[in-house]
Amino acid sequence: MRILGIETSCDETAAAVVDDRRHVLADVVRSQQDAHAPYGGIVPEIAARAHVETLDGIIAQAMDMAETGFDELDGVAVAGGPGLIGGVIVGVMTAKGIAAARNIPFIAVNHLEGHALTARLTDDIGFPYLLLLVSGGHCQLLVAEGVGRYRRLGTTIDDAVGEAFDKTAKMLGLGFPGGPAVERAAGSGDGSRFALPRPMKGRDGCHFSFSGLKTAVRQTVEALPPGEVSAKDTADLCASFQCAVADVVADRTRNACAAFRESHPDGDTLVVAGGVAANGHLRETLKGLAGEQGMRFVAPPQKLCTDNAAMIAWAGIERLKLGLTDGLDFAPRPRWPLDPEAPKATGAGIKA
Ligand code: KG4
Ligand code: ZN
Repeated sequence: MRILGIETSCDETAAAVVDDRRHVLADVVRSQQDAHAPYGGIVPEIAARAHVETLDGIIAQAMDMAETGFDELDGVAVAGGPGLIGGVIVGVMTAKGIAAARNIPFIAVNHLEGHALTARLTDDIGFPYLLLLVSGGHCQLLVAEGVGRYRRLGTTIDDAVGEAFDKTAKMLGLGFPGGPAVERAAGSGDGSRFALPRPMKGRDGCHFSFSGLKTAVRQTVEALPPGEVSAKDTADLCASFQCAVADVVADRTRNACAAFRESHPDGDTLVVAGGVAANGHLRETLKGLAGEQGMRFVAPPQKLCTDNAAMIAWAGIERLKLGLTDGLDFAPRPRWPLDPEAPKATGAGIKA
């Protein structure tokens, strides 16, 4: 079984060809970073236009690299949401066109499920597993019980963790996207210099909060002597921020490990996924936590943590194997929770 995957839900235009023996035959990702950099964040209209201009070429490149003809495809999978709707529409319409022209199955994949199942592409792991999903728009702890079956244990009550990285980078003039820039700067910094808060640490449950940490970073920058913030200040603040993030994420994940073991005594694997899972310090911290909890730790290679189409193609394969295909009347979804039953998370009622 061989599938073409398409990803256009954010600022990466991507196409990949993957087979059911877990081979990534092609994985092409074109970042739009340069187009968005002057604005310090993603501009949805610019993103959608860039996807329109480049997607055909990216798909052709992936098919060439995979030495695959359209008549050799068993299906086409596309990120059908959640994401920036203009971009999602570009990918979905393209995938529908290919599916209709070739009369092959069309599979609309939840972008978050793409991240969630990546560990099954890279490693031979079965359900259930505990999943920490950390990206630019999400920060969630879930139990992955099966394809299409996720139970949310916790989420952020305000900002996503990737957003906190991006805002920190912006405040320090490090450019966009912020995560890799903060990690680079933190490499030479002293993480103990600035005492930043650890929101939610020590509380019951598995929810996250990052807005207080973001505010503390801003106040710290403002308290530094006026004028140029020195390279040392930047490095120390990035390192202190990264330590604070890893600290709270580990604390919340520790609670999730306990909840997971209680509900699934046979489960023994902790998986991390999403763009922020590319962060080396976070990976090391989570590896330590998994060791302490007697759990196996799986983190996909960095290239498959940030947005890509191999994860979409793979989720398409998992769904197609189960007969889960979609009609050409599928409507792109700006919002698409992995666990639709999970209640809205708020700060209210969370006990210290
Ligand atoms: O999964 P992703 O590529 O896109 C979304 O679905 O959101 O995640 C992007 C996020 C951005 O916020 C980016 O700054 C962050 O992942 N990120 C990182 C690193 N690489 C990407 N954050 C921390 N450290 C990194 N090395
Ligand atoms: Zn993503």
